[in-house]
Amino acid sequence: MTDVVFKSEQAALALLAALPKAELHVHIEGTLEPELMFALAMRNGVALPYKSVGEVRAAYAFDDLQSFLDIYYAGTQVLITQQDFFDMTWAYLERAHADHVVHAELFFDPQSHTVRGVDMGTVILGIHRACQQAAAQWGMSSALILCFLRHLSEDDAIATLLAAAPYRAHLVGVGLDSSEQGHPPDKFARVFAKAAAQGLKLVAHAGEEGPPAYVWQALDVLGVHRIDHGVHSMEDAALVARLAAERIPLTVCPLSNMALQVTPNLATHPIKTMLDANLCAMVNSDDPAYFGGYLNDNFAAIITALSLSPQDVLTLVRNGFEASFIDDRLRVQYELQLDNAMAQWTVQHG
Ligand code: HPA
Ligand code: ZN
Repeated sequence: MTDVVFKSEQAALALLAALPKAELHVHIEGTLEPELMFALAMRNGVALPYKSVGEVRAAYAFDDLQSFLDIYYAGTQVLITQQDFFDMTWAYLERAHADHVVHAELFFDPQSHTVRGVDMGTVILGIHRACQQAAAQWGMSSALILCFLRHLSEDDAIATLLAAAPYRAHLVGVGLDSSEQGHPPDKFARVFAKAAAQGLKLVAHAGEEGPPAYVWQALDVLGVHRIDHGVHSMEDAALVARLAAERIPLTVCPLSNMALQVTPNLATHPIKTMLDANLCAMVNSDDPAYFGGYLNDNFAAIITALSLSPQDVLTLVRNGFEASFIDDRLRVQYELQLDNAMAQWTVQHG
C-alpha cells in the first residue's frame, strides 16, 4: 500500500474491479434505465411523455434536485406489478454485482407507488425477491430502507410506516428523501421515533441542498445513524468535528452532486476534504440511471478529478463496510476479503 497516485488508469480500474464494496445510498427507482422504462410501459399499457429511449436520455439535464425529482417520479409510473419491481431490482443487482458490490442497502419510495394504487406488498415483495435471488446466486447481501417523501406530510409518513408493518421483517431501516429545502428533518420527528421504537435503523438525506442546520436536526431530533449526502456539512466546522468524533457516516454520491449542481464540478467535490478531516465518508451512485454511472463509475470519476490515491480508495471502501447495517460477523468477513484483495492488487499494480 502506498500513498501515491495510481500508476495508470488501468491500475485504478483494476483496483475497482478487485475490491469488494458496499453500496448504501441507491434509490431503486433511480436505477430504472430508459430501456426497461419503455419495456414496462409497453407491458402495462402506460403512456410515456417520450417517443424514444434517446428522447428520455435527452430529458436528463437537471438544474437542481427538484428538476430531477419531477422526471424521476414520472418514471415510477410504469411500475405496477410485483414482477416490475423484481425486474428493476434484478437489473440493478446485476450491474452492482458486475461492479463487485457484495453488499447493497436499497432505498425505495413506497409513497410514489401507493398514491397510484399500487399495494405496499407488491413493492416490497418484488424488490425483496430479487434480493433473495442475488443472495442465492452470488452470496450477495442486501437490505431494504423505506424512505418517506419529505414534501408530503408527516401523517402520510406515519400511515406509510403502518402499511409496511406486515413486511417489517424485510426492512432494515427508514430514510427521508425528496425535496429538501423547506422540509427540515424535524417535520418527521414523530414518525422517526415510531420507527426507532420498532428497532429500525434511521438515515436521512441532509445537507444535499439544505444547510448544515438540517444535518444537526437529523442527528439531534431524528437520531439518525447515517447522513445521506451531507456535503453542506463541510461549511460548519463544529458539525465536521461532531461527525468525525462520533464516526457518523456520510453516504456521498459524487456524480449525483455534479448532475444536480450541488457542486459545480468534481474537482471541487468535498469528498477528499472529508477523508482528510477523518470523516466516515463513502461512495455511492444515488440514482445511477439518471446521473450517468453506477458505483465504479463514481469511483473512477473522483479518482481522476481529485487525484485520489489507492489508500484513499481503500479508506472509502472500508468506510462503506463500517457504515453498513450488516452484523459484525459478516462485516469482519468482508473486511478480510477487502484486505486480501488490496494486498493482491498491490503486488500486481502498487
Ligand atoms: N435526493 C433526494 N431525494 C431523492 C434523490 C436525491 O438525490 N433521489 C431520489 N430521491
Ligand atoms: Zn439519494
